[in-house]
Amino acid sequence: MEETYLQSVKYDGEKLYILDQTKLPQVTEFLEIDNIEDVWDAIKQLKVRGAPAIGIAAAYGLVLGIKDSPENDFDSFYKFFKEKEDYLATSRPTAVNLFWALKRMNRRTKAESSKPVKEIKRLLEEEAHLIRQEDENVCSSIGQNALSLFEDGMTVLTHCNAGGIATARYGTALAPIYLAKERGMDIKVYADETRPLLQGARLTAWELMQAGIDVTLITDSMAAMVMQQGKVQAVIVGCDRVAANGDVANKIGTYGVALLAKAHNIPFYVAAPLSTIDLETKTGDEIPIEERAAEEITAGFGKSTAPEGVKVFNPAFDVTPHHLITAIITEKGIMRGNYSEELARLFEK
Ligand code: MRU
Repeated sequence: MEETYLQSVKYDGEKLYILDQTKLPQVTEFLEIDNIEDVWDAIKQLKVRGAPAIGIAAAYGLVLGIKDSPENDFDSFYKFFKEKEDYLATSRPTAVNLFWALKRMNRRTKAESSKPVKEIKRLLEEEAHLIRQEDENVCSSIGQNALSLFEDGMTVLTHCNAGGIATARYGTALAPIYLAKERGMDIKVYADETRPLLQGARLTAWELMQAGIDVTLITDSMAAMVMQQGKVQAVIVGCDRVAANGDVANKIGTYGVALLAKAHNIPFYVAAPLSTIDLETKTGDEIPIEERAAEEITAGFGKSTAPEGVKVFNPAFDVTPHHLITAIITEKGIMRGNYSEELARLFEK
């Protein structure tokens, strides 16, 4: 069936189709991928990006990676599988959804070890589909939970892109905005441009405009003034990893936005699917932060904007400490206050 929305990652049984997010908003183009190396590259180069979408792409990447494996015994198949899993795990370090999806595929492989290898491959394809489908439902639930925090007529600010194309559908931080629109509510959005790769300008503003949502683009440095002038009543962002104490890694600049929100007494919400919560990482200090190429800052989008040879620091993410977060919204509900206890309880259930 033709889908009625833009699905950023889809698999037809032979090829993986990835919406090339580096080309947006000018060009809407899908990469046709039939091998694991190109999936690794698409993740690395941010052609597919956003924590949940990275996880989904990685699951399908494994499906492509194992398709030509030896089909004799389980042990040699598992060794082959594990090499591919470890390879994809090197693509990007911060979003835990990548590792979550790979581990889930690994668990399924082991759980089916008594079956013929051919059948295991089929079941792994099924597992990748499940990961994608579940993410759609998860995002829809996050949207419903988050919307209970919003009121008609409100304006919210978001950073980076945690929208439909960063997930299977709906997004995390943007899910309540879409839902509000469906319900006839008027919620307006300020989108931070999000230096240096402009996910806010290129992706969030584009996505929201396509959906007919009132969005105003600002540069990152304008967020303080917009808050000072009383133009936004809440901030909502997505995330790449939530540590066990509630510290949150998200796109570089998020920490600054959280500090600004605190200074202006504006609630700061984080939308987080359970697949982004990592209880093995105790605090934000332990979250691996990706550093990217200097050229993203000195020659972004091909135009040189800094002196040749200048020293550059280019972390792609920062950590917002839990005390700046008003609430973490998951598909299971809304957490406030003692995140260590609430997160632990969430996973006990
Ligand atoms: O480097 P990116 O574009 O992958 O960073 C994405 C973000 O920081 C998103 O906010 C996060 O992954 C959540 S997407 C639902």
